Amino acid sequence: MKKFFLSILLYSSLHVSAQGDNYVQDYTKYPELAATPPMGWNSWNKFACSVDENMIKEMADAMVASGMRDAGYVYINIDDCWHGQRDENGFIHPDPDRFPSGIKALADYIHSRGLKLGIYSDAGSQTCGGRPGSRGYEFQDALTYARWGIDYLKYDWCNTESLNAEGAYKTMAAALKKAGRPIVLSICEWGDNKPWLWAENVGHLWRTSGDIYNCFDCIEDHGTWKSWGVMQILDKQEGLRKYAGPGHWNDPDMLEIGNGALTPGEDRAHFSMWAMLAAPLIAGNDLRSMNDETRKILTNRRVIAVNQDKLGVQALKYKDDGDFEIWFKPLENGDWAVAFLNRGKAARNFNFDWKSSTFTDEEVSRRTFDAGAATYEIADLWNNKSLGTTSRALKAIVPARDILMLRLIKK
Ligand code: GLA
Repeated sequence: MKKFFLSILLYSSLHVSAQGDNYVQDYTKYPELAATPPMGWNSWNKFACSVDENMIKEMADAMVASGMRDAGYVYINIDDCWHGQRDENGFIHPDPDRFPSGIKALADYIHSRGLKLGIYSDAGSQTCGGRPGSRGYEFQDALTYARWGIDYLKYDWCNTESLNAEGAYKTMAAALKKAGRPIVLSICEWGDNKPWLWAENVGHLWRTSGDIYNCFDCIEDHGTWKSWGVMQILDKQEGLRKYAGPGHWNDPDMLEIGNGALTPGEDRAHFSMWAMLAAPLIAGNDLRSMNDETRKILTNRRVIAVNQDKLGVQALKYKDDGDFEIWFKPLENGDWAVAFLNRGKAARNFNFDWKSSTFTDEEVSRRTFDAGAATYEIADLWNNKSLGTTSRALKAIVPARDILMLRLIKK
């Protein structure tokens, strides 16, 4: 009998250690990062696979010289195609021709400019650009990124076969946690697996759609997949505002401002709507050669303040008659941002009576807009002038494919 109990005891203790029950993995993100939507630059929209260390350093220099850093942009993110090969122990190395000094030296440079460095990988066997993916190497790659001094990881979803998305992103979150360096985790699975339902504690932002295309209003058909114009991406955000908030943002993809296809009015509309959506503001143009118009759009501090507002509430669409949309975003201290978006090809004259436009944001902030109960001063955020107060109806014109963006300041 004694022997029997002894063997049970022995069996159960062996059983416990074989299961590794004394180590609990932490599958959650670093909670203190991205309290407001991340701001930065990424190489993909303009340069695709053509990335190298000199270009990345020059982009950091341009971010400082242009005033973008001082306006709040922080991350310099290398997208796909920086990779070389894995060594015999499985550690990833950068392409030696494009990044001869190594990523650690690049991170040191970026940090010395008061900025942070982002990198890109993929949950599958290969990235979308055919470079080595992290599947099976998650903990090793996270450790490598931490050793290099990386601050932000965009984690893509190509070549994942039947991988489970929630599990794959949790694995990378756990790997980053284990590596010990606070790194923003940007989930990029295009909304296919509804990350807004499971990723609040896993990543800091998640793509809500396929890739943006450099046009205001078009769909680009690549055969097996499509990419989407600014307006098409905007429409794909419907129903998602309740899932975003401080530390966990809907990501409608990076900006196309300054990439040549949009008019200045369309660029303003694009930037304003990303600000209204509390979207990450990740520029995607060549910062070294941008013109003054582009620089002014990207550094408009009044619009950026709407995006970076501490409440972290996405705008709601108050009205939509097809070509003309009115959006409201609750802000700190009782203020509101309001956008009158003209998507159409003709200028739009309108009269907007504030006092008869009372509503309550039941879904997220529970705030009521009531211009009868309170008066607001109206600031025009692009023309930087006052438009009076909400005690009188607003009469204005929005040019074709442009926007009027206002801040209502509670008196
Ligand atoms: C996917 C992503 C893009 C970009 C490319 C890189 O398409 O959605 O944002 O990272 O891969 O290959």
